[in-house]
Amino acid sequence: MDQRHFLREADFTPAQWHSLVNLSAFLKAERRAGNEQQRLLGRTIALIFEKTSTRTRSAFEVAAAHQGAATTYLDSRGSQIGHKESIPDTARVLGRMYDAIEYRGFGQERVSELAAYAGVPVLNGLTDEWHPTQSLCDMLTMAEHCGKERISYAYLGDARNNVANSLLVAGALMGHDVRLVGPSGLQPEAEVVALAEGIAAETGATLRVTDNVAEGVADCDFLHTDVWVSMGEPAEVWEERIEQLSPYQVNAAAMAATGNDQVKAMHCLPAYHDLGTTLAQEVHDSTGRTELEITHEVFEANAEVIFDQAENRMHSIKAVLVWALTGETA
Ligand code: CP
Ligand code: NVA
Repeated sequence: MDQRHFLREADFTPAQWHSLVNLSAFLKAERRAGNEQQRLLGRTIALIFEKTSTRTRSAFEVAAAHQGAATTYLDSRGSQIGHKESIPDTARVLGRMYDAIEYRGFGQERVSELAAYAGVPVLNGLTDEWHPTQSLCDMLTMAEHCGKERISYAYLGDARNNVANSLLVAGALMGHDVRLVGPSGLQPEAEVVALAEGIAAETGATLRVTDNVAEGVADCDFLHTDVWVSMGEPAEVWEERIEQLSPYQVNAAAMAATGNDQVKAMHCLPAYHDLGTTLAQEVHDSTGRTELEITHEVFEANAEVIFDQAENRMHSIKAVLVWALTGETA
């Protein structure tokens, strides 16, 4: 690629992906040591959000500020994007003013189209299909919390959403042991599995997709989960989703079924659900979360790793920015 775009994990070689994880760790350590170098002084970054965000937006803005770059936030209400102006025209305008463009929105084809026209690096902040800044962060967070080179982890829940796809391919790049656990109908598309398997053949990663929780979680170091209905999906699907996915909740039984008393739970967040329904299951716990994909008990017992994961969005997104704008690697 001419530009250093960050569109999806499968565009990277295993060595390049490892290097981004290492750069994330390096930049985090540099900041912690109090001697962060500003590599992006005077640079400008456009942040397009066609879907809402707390972590990703904050991570981009804070990481850019730490590095000396300025950002502009653009959403579909306050700009022409998504209704009055096409992606190719938006890309060509922003590419004249900014040094990089982040995009969060709907189909992956939109971020690819931006990349084709922008003339500057385009960075995927989540699409319907992929969430690569999340998986990069998750690789860093697991490495920090587990001494092993080859980590075993399972993702339970809607196993064909953006986070599941990204965890599968990122784990393949890392050479990890990855399981996606969810009911048939909510498992990854064949093309996603084929993509990951092609990478695994090179790295020695092992990949499994199953509807069997006991098999899927056995010997895992981490259990991941995510919201059962993603942004952009209609609220009407909640009822069916709860029925399909209740057996895939990350709860004490699933944690115990790993057979690993050191197992940790992870959640990309947000884990608060305003279901927009009157379903009986919409029962909020003391923190305001609805107990669906993860129980209150397991969440709170793993709060340290879950909020390290949230913080690491900033360090890993900083690595993406530094790499995309300067070519620096670790
Ligand atoms: N994990 C994540 O992407 O969070 P936001 O939707 O708040 O950005
Ligand atoms: N799968 C979720 C991830 C949120 C960070 C969504 O797309 O809404």
